[in-house]
Amino acid sequence: MPARIIGTGSCLPGRTVSNQELEEWVDTTDEWIRERTGIEQRHLAVEETTTSMAVEAAKAAMENAGVSADEIDLIIVGTVSGDMCFPSTACQVQSQIGAENAVAFDINAACAGFLFGLSIAEAYMQADMARTALIIGGETLSKMMDWQDRSTCVLFGDGAGAAVVQKDETGILGLVQGSDGKRGSALTCRNRPVNNPLVKNDPMPDHTQMDGREVYRFAVKTVPQAIEEAMEKAGTEPGEIKYFLLHQANLRIIESVAKKIGQPMEKFPTNLQKCGNISAGSVPILLDHVSRSGMLKKGDKIVLAGFGAGLTWGAAVLVW
Ligand code: UT7
Repeated sequence: MPARIIGTGSCLPGRTVSNQELEEWVDTTDEWIRERTGIEQRHLAVEETTTSMAVEAAKAAMENAGVSADEIDLIIVGTVSGDMCFPSTACQVQSQIGAENAVAFDINAACAGFLFGLSIAEAYMQADMARTALIIGGETLSKMMDWQDRSTCVLFGDGAGAAVVQKDETGILGLVQGSDGKRGSALTCRNRPVNNPLVKNDPMPDHTQMDGREVYRFAVKTVPQAIEEAMEKAGTEPGEIKYFLLHQANLRIIESVAKKIGQPMEKFPTNLQKCGNISAGSVPILLDHVSRSGMLKKGDKIVLAGFGAGLTWGAAVLVW
């Protein structure tokens, strides 16, 4: 497949909130959060916005890739928490980094947003419609939480990650995407309802609601299948994969996936302990952390996998 990731970047808000601090905000305990999820802290936006973090992550990825703004011809932002209904976060990023030659748009595939963005960019490159793309996953989920609802607010965090993807002879070896709208009610956040002279509704959007057990069951069944399918498409065995970088929702989900595909947990780096679940931001932020810590060398094969609201899922096998 004719596309390769050539640079990564990420941005997290400066303010961290520990589980202990959360105990003061909502009826929860550090012990419950750690045992059920593995999360110890998360970053929450104060001054930062989805766009400002996406811009910082994009600049870092471009610098890492050695690519200038005028070379970017496609910008895709996966987000469910843009600052504006319109213009899109991608158009705001385009403006702020000065990527005047790019076409820019957002996609809503929730926690699979980065993986969906990667698939779209690869398809654009197959069709000769783009040469150098910026794929970003960025969220300010904290503004979409009910901070009285302990079953959701303790899980999520804010941040953005980005990758520069360029047309090449190799790089992305296998891609899988999937959606199951029938099960979408398991994880929802209602936008503004109809409100006009004909009908009166509370004009405010709603908060995030999740049937955690249903999403858990979906993840532990679907993610291993998607990864196996992507490896099959790539003609790769699990033993050849150096790292599996999964959406950072829950350590127990990652342990279950590792067991199902018969690979040791050492191959599954995590940052959910420090970042929580950042939806579309999780996979690119983790990829950037792993890449910048020197854990990857040219030629390594890795798997990326995302899953979440929609329901949606995506997996990719890459050669670094
Ligand atoms: O990014 C999108 C993808 N999202 C996910 O992948 C999330 C998938 N689901 C999960 O990770 C888990 O289902 C959760 C971590 C969300 C919840 O874990 P669980 O083991 O499924 O717990 P539960 O929802 O069944 O709740 C168990 C108990 C309940 O109390 P009772 O009814 O047993 O008395 C909850 O009220 O834990 C209680 N509880 C809490 N207690 C302390 C729920 N949230 C909390 C909390 N602190 N924050």
